[in-house]
Amino acid sequence: MSKTITLTGAAGAIGYAALFRIASGQLLGQNEKIKLKLLEIEPALQAAEGTAMELEDSAFPLLESIDITSDANEAFDGCDVGMLIGAQPRKQGMERADLLEANGAIFKPQGEAINSHADDDVRILVVGNPANTNALIAMSNAPDVPHDRFTSMTRLDENRAVSMLARKLSVSVEDVEDLVVWGNHSPTMFPDLFNAKVNGERAADQVDLDWYENEYMPRVGKRGAAVIEARGASSAASAANAAIDHVHDWALGAEGLHSMAVRSEGQYGIEEGLISSFPVRLHSGGGYEVVEGLEINDFARSKIDITVNELKEERDAVKELGLIG
Ligand code: NAD
Ligand code: LMR
Repeated sequence: MSKTITLTGAAGAIGYAALFRIASGQLLGQNEKIKLKLLEIEPALQAAEGTAMELEDSAFPLLESIDITSDANEAFDGCDVGMLIGAQPRKQGMERADLLEANGAIFKPQGEAINSHADDDVRILVVGNPANTNALIAMSNAPDVPHDRFTSMTRLDENRAVSMLARKLSVSVEDVEDLVVWGNHSPTMFPDLFNAKVNGERAADQVDLDWYENEYMPRVGKRGAAVIEARGASSAASAANAAIDHVHDWALGAEGLHSMAVRSEGQYGIEEGLISSFPVRLHSGGGYEVVEGLEINDFARSKIDITVNELKEERDAVKELGLIG
């Protein structure tokens, strides 16, 4: 048996950084053969062919086949894992509503194609920005697929938050546990040091709260922009790495708490139906659950409310555009 992995935006920077690791077995383990289905827009099909040539030239034992197409119905046929990376980037002068509309034109038909053609067991990760709302659009257009199969990526934000905290406290990243980011993949996201632990002790007790609020939170939230400023392009290898962490742990399990943006069922007072980042536990046989009962103090509550309000505004905007019901 093998798994069919559909990757959109295959000719893009994240696609290039992810595909070789996926084909080498880092996504689903060394016992799973892989069929790749690569979705690109017409003008980028030739570049995707080039990537496919390099994948063939790598002679990966787990890689059974590579199909390249610009037809979403073909790309999602039999899909077990969908990594929705391709998206319309913000261009100069583009308003947020324009960006949401342009991405709606991508994620609505992809949701419909997933609904009609994917495997019953399909799992979807949305990476393309605005990731939470793009996942909401895809999910809303796939009514026959269980809601919990649609997720978007905040694992990169978690990885950034872990790394920055470890540096601050001069500890190893392995000493940091349960560091979860809440809300939207945007500068409003809330990295939660109250429930995180460093060497088994509450992280918030080991840092100055002024540093936490006024240095750490903005640095985590604006790291994507800082990378764009430095590289002249958005993060690619670290985003691919986080996407692989997300899917790997969803399929195979992981220790501790991690961040995944999933459909809210109303937990922690976050409005039902929004795709928000939550603390999740990833089970060893596959699957996840949102962990309930964590401490949310007034400070955390106010920060979570800000990022959730932003998600509501994005939801309302795409509703107005007729992209969701
Ligand atoms: P890129 O511009 O290098 O590649 C995007 C690719 O998507 C292009 O090859 C383009 O042709 C393709 N594409 C566009 N529309 C498509 C469609 N309808 N179907 C299939 N493919 C399509 O961009 P990148 O660096 O690979 O980034 C991809 C996305 O990921 C961007 O939206 C970026 O903002 C986002 N991103 C998200 C995170 C996160 O943490 N969630 C992190 C980094 C980047
Ligand atoms: C990131 O967090 O690196 C990206 O989401 C930034 C971007 O706008 O592509």
